[in-house]
Amino acid sequence: MALFDFKKLFGVHGNTAIGIDIGSSALKVVELKREGGKAILKAYGEIALGPYAGQSIGSIAMLSNTKIAEALKDVLKEASILTKESGVAIPFKSSLVTLIEMPALPEKKLAEIIPIEARKYIPVPIAEVTLDWWIVPKEKNDRVNKPKPEEEQKKPVGLETPRIVEKTDVLVVSIHNEILSNYNNVIKDNALNTSFFEIEMFSAARSLVVKSDTPTIIFDMGALGTKLYVIEKGIIRTSHVINRGSNDITQSLSKALGVEFVEAEKIKRNISTLKEADQVIVKEIVDLTLDYIWSETRNIINNFETKHGKHIGGVLLTGGGVSLPGFKEIAEQKLNIKAELGNPFGKVITPPFLSAALRDTAHEFAVATGAALRKLEELS
Ligand SMILES: Nc1ncnc2c1ncn2[C@@H]1O[C@H](COP(=O)(O)OP(=O)(O)OP(=O)(O)O)[C@@H](O)[C@H]1O
Ligand SMILES: [Mg+2]
Repeated sequence: MALFDFKKLFGVHGNTAIGIDIGSSALKVVELKREGGKAILKAYGEIALGPYAGQSIGSIAMLSNTKIAEALKDVLKEASILTKESGVAIPFKSSLVTLIEMPALPEKKLAEIIPIEARKYIPVPIAEVTLDWWIVPKEKNDRVNKPKPEEEQKKPVGLETPRIVEKTDVLVVSIHNEILSNYNNVIKDNALNTSFFEIEMFSAARSLVVKSDTPTIIFDMGALGTKLYVIEKGIIRTSHVINRGSNDITQSLSKALGVEFVEAEKIKRNISTLKEADQVIVKEIVDLTLDYIWSETRNIINNFETKHGKHIGGVLLTGGGVSLPGFKEIAEQKLNIKAELGNPFGKVITPPFLSAALRDTAHEFAVATGAALRKLEELS
């Protein structure tokens, strides 16, 4: 242990962290400060990535590392963020998430055999990916047995009493090393001090406060896709991605109304300002994409409920796509579940001067806030 904590002594770093969410259409940052043991929102910012690829706001941008680094630099500048201590959330699509059933062995043993087992599920050589994994805790009313008690797990295998082999679910996440190296370059270009890259679902699950003990589904509708994570007592039980997002709505509007993407995006974002008759037409087109998403979401909910024998009690809506007017009510009606806009600042104190502006867009910052919370935790 160091005799002096130089960071604290000079008041640099130590108590401020940023979370970065690199999405397909927008990049978001959230800066949190720790004061008196509490996380305080210091700054936040969002920048559309489309213009960095010569495209309009809202489009999905395929960008080089240099361009992403440039966007990051710009948004940090706009938000007047100087902190270098950061954590980065990377897109769900950059990873492969697999639920593997393993024998209920001690963690150390699991760590040895997971890479071997994971070979069966990962379509590239295991040396090319970075693996991370979490044991999904079993619940009393799950259909499968509980893991062995700790003392029994410690017994040498040969001395165990004969028993039915118990199983445990392990969530294995693999990220291609090349993808990690690309994100590393983005970070290096901005001279940030980043200690982790995590898949966005872990960030969102950390920041969104799930009040109920019953399983809740996080519904993140971005531009590229809609991601669904079932959370129970703070832990991700399952994750899914539906390959339709808010960008598909803009594309449909553009085609059906015969207008450019940029115009269609404006129409989508301003539905409530249109004449009533136009609203009806636009909503019908919007529903074409949404209906597919609702039907997939219902399947995912039904499968979870059947497999685990329990109900999903609520849905938390996040991502820019859920900003459509009346989205909460539509979600409730289509899914027959209580829905609310996810509040990523439930564990964070938000200064009053930010509150009014934040109210409309807070749900877009779940991922960035979650990454910032983890980094802040690491610093303390
Ligand atoms: N007010 C609004 N009304 C309707 N749609 C909106 C509104 N604001 C943003 N969107 C849409 O939300 C999408 C962007 O959401 P978000 O920023 O969560 O996506 P992303 O994180 O870049 O995408 P992904 O998570 O799929 O990689 C865009 O398609 C945009 O058109
Ligand atoms: Mg996103």
